[in-house]
Amino acid sequence: MSEITTLDEFIIQRQKDFSYATGELTGLLRDIGVAAKIVNREVNKAGLVNILGSYGGSNESGDDVKKLDIFANEKFIKCLSNSGECCGIASEENEDIIPVDPVDGKESKYILVMDPLDGSSNIDVNVSVGTIFGIYRRVSSSDQSVSKKDFLQKGKELVAAGYVLYGTSTMLVYSTGRGVNGFTLDPSIGEFCLSHRDMQIPEKGVYYSVNQGYYLKFDVEMRRYIDYCSDLNLRLRYIGSMVSDIHRILFQGGIFLYPNTRKYPKGKLRLLYECNPIAFIVEQAGGRAINCKLEDILELPVHELHQRSSVVIGSPQMVEEMKEFIQKYQEPSSSELPKA
Ligand code: AHG
Ligand code: MN
Ligand code: MN
Repeated sequence: MSEITTLDEFIIQRQKDFSYATGELTGLLRDIGVAAKIVNREVNKAGLVNILGSYGGSNESGDDVKKLDIFANEKFIKCLSNSGECCGIASEENEDIIPVDPVDGKESKYILVMDPLDGSSNIDVNVSVGTIFGIYRRVSSSDQSVSKKDFLQKGKELVAAGYVLYGTSTMLVYSTGRGVNGFTLDPSIGEFCLSHRDMQIPEKGVYYSVNQGYYLKFDVEMRRYIDYCSDLNLRLRYIGSMVSDIHRILFQGGIFLYPNTRKYPKGKLRLLYECNPIAFIVEQAGGRAINCKLEDILELPVHELHQRSSVVIGSPQMVEEMKEFIQKYQEPSSSELPKA
C-alpha cells in the first residue's frame, strides 16, 4: 500500500521551505483544515433540511437554524481566533475587519481574508459549494492593533491562498507560492490526504464557464468573445460557485469569466475574498488571471474591503487568446479615432 501523507504532515514538511518560518503559517493552515472539516460536516447534513429544519428558518424544536454561510463564517472565525495564529480576519460576511487578540501573549504576523461559503445559492439543492481563503503578512507594526490597511494589499502580496471544495469528495487545495497541492478528505479517518501533488493547469482546454444568461448585459466585445467560444464548440459549464467552476478548469483546462454587467459595472466578484486568492492559486498552477480591462488581477490596487472586480481566469493560452481577441475588437477610444 502506498504511504498516505496527511495535510498536517505535509504542512509541517513544507515549513522548512521557508527559512524565516516560525511555525505560525503552519499553525494557521492547520486551523483552516480543522474549520473546513467542521463546515464539511454541516454541509453534508444540508440535504436533511426537512428533518433538521431549513437554514435560515427553524427546526422541529423551534430553534433557529443558522444560514450555512453564517455558520461557516462563525466556525472559521472561532477556530482562527481560539489559536491566535492570525491577528485579524476580513470576511465577505462582515462589514468590517475582525481583530484577533493574541493568545498566550503570542503576536501573530498574519492576517486572513475569506469567503466562508462560496456559491451559497447551491446549498439548498445539494450542489457543490466552497470556501476561499488568502493569507497576508500584516504591514502595520505589531505593537498596534491591526487596521484596514493591513488588508488592502495587492494580490501579489499573498503569502498563501487556497480553497475548499465541498463536492462529491471534499478537497482542500492550497499554495504557499511554491506550486499547488490538493488534499482529499478521507471520511473514514477524518483527514485531508495528499491526492494531487504539484497541480498544473492544462495550457488550454475545452471548457468555458460564464453566466451566459447575462449575455445581453455584457459589453459588446465580451459578447463577441463568447460567440467565438461557442463557434469553437467549446463546452459551456457553469455551476454558479466560483470554487467549483475553477476547480474543473484547474484540472481539465478552460476559461472562467465573470465580466462586468449593467447591474455590476465593476464586476460582481470580490477582489479580496474571491478573485485574488483564486488568481494566486491558478497562477501558481501555471494559469493566468486578468480583469476585463486586461489588467493582471494580482496587480490591482485594493481600495475597499468589499471591492468588486471583473475577472477572467484559466488556462494560459486561452486567457492570452481572449486578451488578443478583446484588444482586436475593442472599439477605439475617441482620441484614437481618425480626425474628420
Ligand atoms: P457567494 O455565494 O459567496 O456570494 O458567491 C457566489 C458567486 C460566485 O461563487 C459565483 O461564481 C457567482 O457568484 C454566481 O453569480 P451569478 O448567479 O450572478 O452567476
Ligand atoms: Mn463567493
Ligand atoms: Mn460567500
